[in-house]
Amino acid sequence: MKELMQSLRESSIKAILECESAELLEQLRVKYLGKKGELTAILRQMGKLTAEERPAMGQLANKLRADIEEALDKRKTQINSLMLEKKLEEEALDVTMPGEKYALGHKHPMYNVLDQIKDIFIGMGFEIVDGPEIELADYNFSKLNIEEGHPSREWTDTFYFTPDSKILLRTQTSPMQIHAMETRELPIRIIAPGRVYRKDEVDATHSPMFHQIEGMVIDKGVTMSDLKATLNLVVEKIYGKGTVTRFRPHHFPFTEPSCEMDIQCHKCGGKGCPTCKGEGWIEVLGAGMVHPKVLAGCGIDPDVYSGWAFGMGLERLALGEYKITDMRLIFENDVRFLEQF
Ligand code: PHE
Repeated sequence: MKELMQSLRESSIKAILECESAELLEQLRVKYLGKKGELTAILRQMGKLTAEERPAMGQLANKLRADIEEALDKRKTQINSLMLEKKLEEEALDVTMPGEKYALGHKHPMYNVLDQIKDIFIGMGFEIVDGPEIELADYNFSKLNIEEGHPSREWTDTFYFTPDSKILLRTQTSPMQIHAMETRELPIRIIAPGRVYRKDEVDATHSPMFHQIEGMVIDKGVTMSDLKATLNLVVEKIYGKGTVTRFRPHHFPFTEPSCEMDIQCHKCGGKGCPTCKGEGWIEVLGAGMVHPKVLAGCGIDPDVYSGWAFGMGLERLALGEYKITDMRLIFENDVRFLEQF
């Protein structure tokens, strides 16, 4: 029995000290000290000993149990610190490793053009203002002198929210003229860029959502020549000195007189080419002197104050600037396209 205990002592201590993991160590504890373990098996044989032999053997057995327990504890502490070391090693941060590269986006080409235009107007003392895309028909139409029955108020052209045609997605940024006149101190110099919505089918030059930039000046003694001079300056800043413009008479209910401004095609110099569709001129914006009825409707005396306004399409400008031939590319947001700018 003594020999059995001796050999258990040797084999168990050796196995414990060589053990590599906490799970295996637990298995060893069960194997040696458990109810069905090897030490228990030896103790079962105590019955065969004489009464004199028993106490000494009992003591040896207790000592053996204590020593195995001690070995288990010792190994457990070692394993724990080994595991910790391993974990720290694995999780160590190597500050000399090259960092992960993130794909940084950049500004959308159309917003480059918008920022350029904003800068030009800010330089001339204009403020940039923002307004609602969900608008009252009053602001989108009535206060702009667009009467009931005007074709632009048709349900086939305009996205209405309510059957009474009172709330809609603005079809132009011109309601910003009214908001500005109703809420701001005179004189007013603003531009108001933003989205507008019309029931148009998507094609290379149309989209049910597009962007306009509204511009407006109201002050004493403002004339059509201020409008022309300002817009000529803006065009020269965008397209270069000496860019030729042309103001054609037009009609808008909220301006009088009204005009459209064309620029001479910068590609062909007016001879006619694919860029200007053979016209020699590219239509850029609608404009005019703010109608006295519109001024009066906003509580501004048209005998004292006058003003001009314009509205231009931003997509068209961006298409021209970047020689993009299809407007859909502007909105599809395919990175393969956008990356090129
Ligand atoms: N709102 C007009 C349009 O969408 C453009 C415009 C703005 C005309 C301001 C005159 C003055 O066509």
